[in-house]
Formats: sequence, structure tokens, C-alpha cells
Amino acid sequence: MGKHESIEIKAAHCQLDQCTTKALTVPIFEGATIENDILSTVNKWLNGRLEGMLKEGEIQGKWKEVTLIHLDKETPSHLFIVGLGKEKDLTIDKIRSFSAIAGKAMQKIKICSGSFIIPEFPLVTLKDSAKAMSEGLILGLYKFSKYKTKSSKDNSETENKETYLKEAVLLTGQANLCEGIKEDICKGTIIAEATNFTRDLVNEPSNTLTPSYFVEQVKTLLAGLPVEITIIEEKDALNMGMGAFHAVAKGSDEPSKMVVLKYGGQQPKNNIKNLKEFPLAFVGKGITFDSGGISIKPSDQMHTMTSDMAGAAAVLGAFYAIAKLNTPINLLGVIPLTENLPDGKAYKPGDIVKAYNGKTIEVLNTDAEGRLILADALAYAVEQGVHKIVDLATLTAACVIALGHAVSGVFSTSQELTDAIVTAGKETNERAWPMPLLDEYSQAIKGTFADLKNTGGRPAGSGTAAAFLKEFVGDVPWAHLDIAGTSLIEGDKSQYPSYQPESGATGVGVRLLVNLAESISNQLYAG
Ligand code: BES
Ligand code: MN
Ligand code: ZN
Repeated sequence: MGKHESIEIKAAHCQLDQCTTKALTVPIFEGATIENDILSTVNKWLNGRLEGMLKEGEIQGKWKEVTLIHLDKETPSHLFIVGLGKEKDLTIDKIRSFSAIAGKAMQKIKICSGSFIIPEFPLVTLKDSAKAMSEGLILGLYKFSKYKTKSSKDNSETENKETYLKEAVLLTGQANLCEGIKEDICKGTIIAEATNFTRDLVNEPSNTLTPSYFVEQVKTLLAGLPVEITIIEEKDALNMGMGAFHAVAKGSDEPSKMVVLKYGGQQPKNNIKNLKEFPLAFVGKGITFDSGGISIKPSDQMHTMTSDMAGAAAVLGAFYAIAKLNTPINLLGVIPLTENLPDGKAYKPGDIVKAYNGKTIEVLNTDAEGRLILADALAYAVEQGVHKIVDLATLTAACVIALGHAVSGVFSTSQELTDAIVTAGKETNERAWPMPLLDEYSQAIKGTFADLKNTGGRPAGSGTAAAFLKEFVGDVPWAHLDIAGTSLIEGDKSQYPSYQPESGATGVGVRLLVNLAESISNQLYAG
């Protein structure tokens, strides 16, 4: 991945007396006693003091409780006892957070190598736990610190630019399963690194991250993977009839780009010839900065609009992971990229533009630009012969008002696709909540002088935006994920899982899309 020096994760049979790392994390459930094998070994190391700490309630095993104990040995010299809460309440997402908590605790005191005992409990398989722990470690140690110089060293929180933790060993008591979880560790690592790459792009400010810069990142990230990359340049988009996308791009000096990705995963590796049919397409909104255009936004929160390409970045991250995992599926990606700025050449309220599918649109508000660039991207995807389309977009403030920051809204023409997305959301804890797509919303975006208008007013702002997108997908089953609320960390930090950063991008969408592509692939190639 280049930018982030990643930690290497291994698997080993848990024999505590042969521990090879400086630190060891031991998970503990609420109410645990030292009868447990692992805890009795630890108790011996501590000459019986663990038993006392448990009896005194100094260690309770409460969720997120971390106790650091120094030992009179070299490996391990530092013992982290991390609470998992009640056994019956444990989930796969808590396991993801557990490894993040432990990894961050080690990182904080600059430990380079650590072992982590995989919690074993009946509700989750060891393989799933190993994958989740790998994800948690890599996601949890993420920091966007490239712009911090040494001069801000006085701030101890931001000083740790470096990743100290370089080696992690996941320990299981089941020696026979040790070999098998290596592939899950590898999977988790790829998916988490892809998510961190997406976070980097979303965090990158727009004076660096222009459409051209994004395209360079596409090429670098996907180099050597079986993904065909085509760039539709600004004048080509105009000539092809992408009048909605072009209208938004007109006010910017940075040339717009439409990225088209084709992954041929059902073919043997590195053979991408048979790409005529795509069971699935991902489309992502790529506004590299949204000022609102002539309908300019208030300035107080405008700086957050450098993240208005979170959908685009999630699609790219997902393509990287899916290609790297060699998931057997043909996949199309369409990523429209442009800035939305006011200028002498900018599009204006009242303008009428024509989209790629021939529909005409009255622009009532130049700040409703996402749906315009997606209109052409969706119509283009449909033309390529796709069977299902999923788009991701930081589309409306109304979605944040409706759902907050914990779930993305799903608007879809297909119950089956909605169900698949909700399930993928549950499995990854990138939750998605079904929202209605009423005929009334379609009525609200009927144009006065053109076929459509680009806003339907304040009521059901996220629903009318979705109804607008629906005009461009024809009969293809389609789902739209509004990630305006879930793409950035905002508000109460404690509501987020421990593998999310303190601030900035979450990388939402990557893990969900990878999971979705895998489940659709399994369906297609079952038996
Ligand atoms: N990118 C914004 C939506 C947004 C707002 C995302 C806040 C994340 C946080 C989008 O382009 C936009 O401006 N939408 C308008 C639409 C309106 C003008 C119909 C909105 O939601 O206010
Ligand atoms: Mn806007
Ligand atoms: Zn926008």
C-alpha cells in the first residue's frame, strides 16, 4: 500500500510459556475466575496476585477495561488484560474493537511486538474472529498524520507519527486450526488496508486531491491487479452527451475525470478478456470539493466538503480489496470526479442541462450537484450491461438529520438488493437502514420546463434526491447508499467503535461492498 507501513500479523498456537513477544494481551470476560487455563498460567506468573485482583474487583472484565501489568520476564514483559464484558453480549464487532483497544494500548507505550489471545466463545468461529482481529488492529492503528511536522511535537497525542507496533501474533488454543486462520488474517489485512487507503483519500485536502490526483491514486493502487482502467476526459464526456456531469465541472479549472474500472474476477488471474457482462456495478460520488457553486454554502462547515468524494474513495478501496482477494465476479466501477465551484464559467440556477440518457434537467440549486454527476455515471453503467447497481454518495444533509452518524440510508428499487446490503451492513457493522422511495418523491422532482428538476425542496430531502437518481437506472435493480452521515467522525466520539479514528474519515463502504461482492459471487457460483 506504500503510504502506511503496515503491521505484520501472524498466527500461532497459544503456549503462554513460549511467548516470543514483548507484550501479551489476555482477554477476560466479566465474572471470569482463574480456573480458566490461561488465567491460571498468568496467575502463576504473578505469584497468585491475579487471583487477588479478581477477588478485590480490581480487574472486573468490563467491556473496554484495560489493565497493564509488568512482569519479571522478557517475553512477555508487559501484560495487558482487556475486558470483553459479559460473554453472552460478545459480538464479532466487539472482537474487532477488542484488538484495536489492545493494539492502541501497546502502541501508546511504543511496544514493537505483541501477542493477542483470540477470544474463544461459541457464537463466533475462530476464523471469523481471526479476520475481525486483523481488521481491528490495522484499522485501530490508523492515523492521518502526513501533514504533522516535528514542530507540533509538544502535543503528545499527535506526536506518535510512527507506528511502533510492527508485529502481532494471534494466539489460538486450537493447534490444528492454526494453519487455517492464516488465510483469514490475510483477508482481514487486505480489507483493512483498503479501508485505510480510502480513509487517506477522504482525509486528503482538496488543494492536493483534485480529480487528476485521484486518477493517479487509482493507477498506483490498482497497478499489477487484473483491473482495466479507462479515463473519460472532460471533453470526451461532453462529446458523449454527459451534460449533467459536465455542467457541474464547468466552474472548475481542474479538469474533470470519469474513471471506469473493469474487474474480471471470474477469469483466471490476469486475464480480463471476457468483460461483456457485469453482475454488479459500483458507482461513487467524487466531488473533490463542494463549495455549493453559485448556490454557495455557508462558510462555517464548508471545509468538511473536501470529503465529498467519500463514495468515490470507497468504490476504489473496494475494487482494490476485491481484486487482491481474487473474488470470482465481474465488476464494473464508475467514478465521476470534479470540483463544484462558483466561477464566470460555472453553471447557474435556472440552467437546463441534458443527461447521458437524454433526460433534461432544470438546475434549481447548484449545490444539488452530486445527483447530477451520478445521473450520467449511472446511465453510463446501465449502458455497459450490468445486472445490479449500487451507488455510494455523500448526497444529502437531510440524511444526516434523518439517521445521524451510525447508519447509512439505503434507497432501492429491489427488495432483494436491499436485503443483501442490510445483511452485509450487519456483518461488517457498516450498518445500512432501508428508507422509502415513494412515487410522491418522484412527483416532487418533476420539472416545470424540463423533464426533471434537481431539487425537491426540504421535505424528504434524501428521498427526493434518491428519486432523482432512480430516473437514470432504467430497469436495472439498483440501490443507493447515502453516506453523508457515516463517512466522517462527528459529534460524540464514544459512540464509535474503537477501531475508528478520533477524527476524520471512517472509510465507510469498503468493508460493506467487499462483503456484498463476496455474497453475490457465492450466489452466482454456488455449487
Ligand atoms: N455534499 C452535500 C451533502 C452533504 C452535506 C454531505 C453535509 C455531508 C454533509 C450535497 O452536495 C449537498 O449540498 N446537498 C444539498 C442538497 C440540497 C441543495 C437540495 C443538501 O443536502 O443540503
Ligand atoms: Mn452540494
Ligand atoms: Zn456534494
